[in-house]
Amino acid sequence: MKQRIAILGKNGRLGAALCRDLADKYEILALGRAELDLTRPIREQLQCVEFDLLINAAAATNVDWCERHLSEASRINARSVSELGSLCVERGVRCLHVSTDYVFDGSATRPYHEEDRAMPISVYGKTKLLGEELLLRTCADHLAIRVSWVFGPDKSGFVDMLLDRAMNEESVVAIDDKFAAPTYTVDFAQWIRPLLFDLPVGGILHLCNSGGCSWREYAQCAVEAARQEKVRLKAREVHPISLGSMETFVARRPAYTVLATDKFSKITGLFPRPWQDAVTEFVQKKYSRA
Ligand SMILES: NC(=O)c1ccc[n+]([C@@H]2O[C@H](COP(=O)([O-])OP(=O)(O)OC[C@H]3O[C@@H](n4cnc5c(N)ncnc54)[C@H](OP(=O)(O)O)[C@@H]3O)[C@@H](O)[C@H]2O)c1
Repeated sequence: MKQRIAILGKNGRLGAALCRDLADKYEILALGRAELDLTRPIREQLQCVEFDLLINAAAATNVDWCERHLSEASRINARSVSELGSLCVERGVRCLHVSTDYVFDGSATRPYHEEDRAMPISVYGKTKLLGEELLLRTCADHLAIRVSWVFGPDKSGFVDMLLDRAMNEESVVAIDDKFAAPTYTVDFAQWIRPLLFDLPVGGILHLCNSGGCSWREYAQCAVEAARQEKVRLKAREVHPISLGSMETFVARRPAYTVLATDKFSKITGLFPRPWQDAVTEFVQKKYSRA
């Protein structure tokens, strides 16, 4: 009989990819907000639901919304994670919870390791960090996986928005002084396979494509890939702007949050491919589908 995995966030960028890509080997119980609302007590909503592992890819992810909705963000990103962790302990199963690079303040000059001190500078980062802490307090076997700049085919995001602009406008811009590593959802769904049941490590783990870049470099890579696919673009160069010039941002963003994935590689023997390869593949597939 197939092992049963409950995945929260089935309509999200990462959750949708996990639901689809893990279905080859596992029985997937895909849960969206309609089936499990994280603003409501968890226990009663999962009463009749059985699973061998739970993956939480649901969260309040809009950084600026969180800044203005502290109480709701805390409930969704922290308190509910604690309840999920406790419920999993009672059921004797592990919880894999997705977290973020925004737990760091961004002042580092080299990639962040799992043991580096987390000092979030936004409500989003603070509530996500609290979520990790509460989860691991319920059981040290649970796993909080920090990712960064998530992109993939299931929900439009930064790359899609940037390429739409490049198709329609003569000049496009992106922030050039904020750095992280993109995380391709399709790759993530493969990376976590050994961590599901075979290597039941607990604690914190960093996981993203290798290397690091500015938002502008990320955008320029997507533009180059689209040009290779013969996509008609009005803009070919992505011009730099600074993080400080973003007057519409409500929450502070950390300037540098590249994550080191050595721990993941040591545990699994897997090495995430460079972010450029992942972005290029994503763009190729996007336009071969179109
Ligand atoms: N996106 C990034 O660049 C990024 C970077 C670092 C870390 N992460 C982390 O990665 C994980 C996945 O992110 P993502 O990019 O897939 O985010 P996403 O596309 O915004 O998906 C989040 C999902 O959470 C669901 N959700 C929000 N509030 C909920 C509630 N009250 N009850 C139940 N479900 C709720 C949303 O449901 P609806 O579809 O109904 O709104 C959505 O499907 C999150 O933990 C996030 O913190 C993301």
